[in-house]
Amino acid sequence: MDKKVTVVGAGNVGATAAMRLAEKELADVVLIDILEGVPAGKALDLAEAAPIEKHDSKILGVTNDYTQARDSDIVIITAGVPRRPGMSRDDLLSTNMGIIRDVTREVASVAPNSILIIVSNPLDAMCYVALKTSGFPKNRVMGMAGVLDSARFRAFIAMELNVSVENTHAFVLGGHGDTMVPLPRYSTVAGIPITELLSPERIDALVERTRNGGAEIVGLLKTGSAYYAPASAAVEMAEAILKDKKKILPCAAYLEGEYGIDGLFVGVPVKLGSAGIEEIIQIKLTDEEKAALENSASAVRKLVKDMERLGL
Ligand code: NAI
Ligand code: 2OP
Repeated sequence: MDKKVTVVGAGNVGATAAMRLAEKELADVVLIDILEGVPAGKALDLAEAAPIEKHDSKILGVTNDYTQARDSDIVIITAGVPRRPGMSRDDLLSTNMGIIRDVTREVASVAPNSILIIVSNPLDAMCYVALKTSGFPKNRVMGMAGVLDSARFRAFIAMELNVSVENTHAFVLGGHGDTMVPLPRYSTVAGIPITELLSPERIDALVERTRNGGAEIVGLLKTGSAYYAPASAAVEMAEAILKDKKKILPCAAYLEGEYGIDGLFVGVPVKLGSAGIEEIIQIKLTDEEKAALENSASAVRKLVKDMERLGL
């Protein structure tokens, strides 16, 4: 392949993302972890599936060897600890802050022109760490959350109305946490807003299920958090960049005044192409939606303050 994607963290999300990247032949993949043997073992296993899955992407797994990430086009960072039952994403703050800082330093030195897609939680705060540590311009640092949260909303809409998921579109903005902002007005089935198709009570129920989508899966898995849909979401972003698709997706982006928010990563619609975030799309929000987005931004701002207290 003429493109290279490094995935840092060969755990559930990272290994699944590596699999999807390879199976779609989007790039050659390097999988990095701190664990001895695990990234090499998973990469070899995936390479042995290639003849059956019919792809020629190369997959290499290494332990702490960032030289293999040299000149990557994209680096997807999934390193860190996931939630366990009873934990919020914010409980991961101090551990994952240190991990993201270490990983970003390594990545920035070997792949200074790469685009970073952050997955580790608490997502919006970890994007901030990656931006500040890498020194990359803001268009080359982004977070995956909105694509996942919107996909969950889409899946629930399709289940509710018994329609194809392909007919559904949805937008979830804000931080990736309990304050996220699903936007029913901008969520459609075959172009028809769901506000025309469902009662306010049913929409509220779907919105609530979307907000709790991560916790619902943590409660079922008990030993970790979701990874199939998160990996798909990160790979959709990578594909949009690698193929310069100019695709509009909700992503965590560093805002400097857009939506009245300054100096924070928050989920908003962006245009993804070969330069990364090529545009932040500003959609009209009602006063209520604006207030919900500001509330969500405040939750992210608090995490950034906590990190500054922890020595970021
Ligand atoms: P996991 O525990 O399966 O994998 C994490 C991997 O990171 C482990 O293999 C671990 O050894 C590795 N790791 C830890 N420190 C490292 C370091 N310094 N360098 C390289 N690798 C290191 O966890 P999972 O399920 O893959 O989740 C990963 C992260 O992604 C978690 O923080 C989780 O909360 C987050 N997440 C975020 C989502 C989002 O929507 N943004 C969705 C799903 C997960
Ligand atoms: C999720 O939403 C835990 O952030 C992860 O599934």
